[in-house]
Amino acid sequence: MPLRPKKTLLIGVAALAALVTGMLPAVNATAAPSPTISKDLFGTLSDGTKVWRYTLSSSAISVKIITYGGIVQRLDAPDRHGHRANVVLGFPKLDDYVAKNNPGPYFGALIGRYGNRIAKGTFTLDGTTYHLPLNNNGNSLHGGPKGFDTKAWTATPVKTKDAVGVRLDYTSPDGDMNYPGTLKASVTYTLSGGSLRLDYRATTDKATIVNLTNHSYFNLAGEGSGGIYDHRLRLNADRYTPVDSTLIPTGQLAPVAGTPMDFTKATPIGARIRDGFQQLAYGQGYDHNWVLNGSGFRLAAEVGEPTSGRVLKIYTDQPGIQFYSGNFLDGTLYGTSGRQYRQGDGFALETQHFPDSPNHPDFPSTVLRPGQTYRTSTVWSLSAH
Ligand code: BGC
Repeated sequence: MPLRPKKTLLIGVAALAALVTGMLPAVNATAAPSPTISKDLFGTLSDGTKVWRYTLSSSAISVKIITYGGIVQRLDAPDRHGHRANVVLGFPKLDDYVAKNNPGPYFGALIGRYGNRIAKGTFTLDGTTYHLPLNNNGNSLHGGPKGFDTKAWTATPVKTKDAVGVRLDYTSPDGDMNYPGTLKASVTYTLSGGSLRLDYRATTDKATIVNLTNHSYFNLAGEGSGGIYDHRLRLNADRYTPVDSTLIPTGQLAPVAGTPMDFTKATPIGARIRDGFQQLAYGQGYDHNWVLNGSGFRLAAEVGEPTSGRVLKIYTDQPGIQFYSGNFLDGTLYGTSGRQYRQGDGFALETQHFPDSPNHPDFPSTVLRPGQTYRTSTVWSLSAH
């Protein structure tokens, strides 16, 4: 069914323009009520650390973020009739995140120090070779078994006239998961209208590598409502990075044209997923990095769900985006509303540098040196048509 045009959440567009330009929108007579922020106790870790859940709400959408892993626990957005649903996969309780999210799906979590894979967990920087813990088929995935997704972050609420946010800070000590340098990381989630902005920052006291992202899984028909294969995806990418059987890039930047990797025009996710394409066999579906066209802050991906009319647009300044079609959800996990998650019940779109960049000098660099600041921003913009 084609997406019905119009009825965009205008407030979302105005706010997005403001977020994109970094300017506050002009106050006008029809302005929506100011967004709000509140917090509640989500649980307590075994070492006694309290985990807080911040709720950021605008008249358009509402998001819940917990200080454990900086996890987006819920994201409620209206369909074309104004009915709200939670459009991200997750768990109802802290214990579930602690016990099942790593190793596991990394639902909603901040990923660091290095999102995605590093071949054999090994890289060389300035003549020193580092060995990271191997947690995925002989490779390192998502910063290791005790990555940023498992840390308690310190939260500071942020409020302006038109936006609310929460800044999360975490200092990763030198040698944490065998990465060099003390890395001071902060991620600020800011809600305005129908858009959630993610601003990542990091500094180091020794040369290191860094590639932060967020690992939310979306289902625009609502979490726990079934599969996402009928969602229509468009990616602003003419090329992708093909992988070997362990999902490590071969180093090639291959054209998507003429393959099931071509999402340059909006296409249902499931339309070609069983075509027998070798790359899709390796990933048991889509689990690849696309090379985003252009540079600077730009549209990376757009996903529409035909029944609800919900649309998610993702903007970023990053060179790549990992599109993962939830292939390894195997029915063993039950989500926020108690329903079972099966293969293809959610998809992730992780804005990032390319996987295994430290071992591919031709890929954009992920090296961070003392005196430099790692900065990257991503916006998720939700609307209904
Ligand atoms: C990876 C998948 C992995 C998933 C959850 C994704 O980012 O690319 O291979 O299964 O994260 O762990």
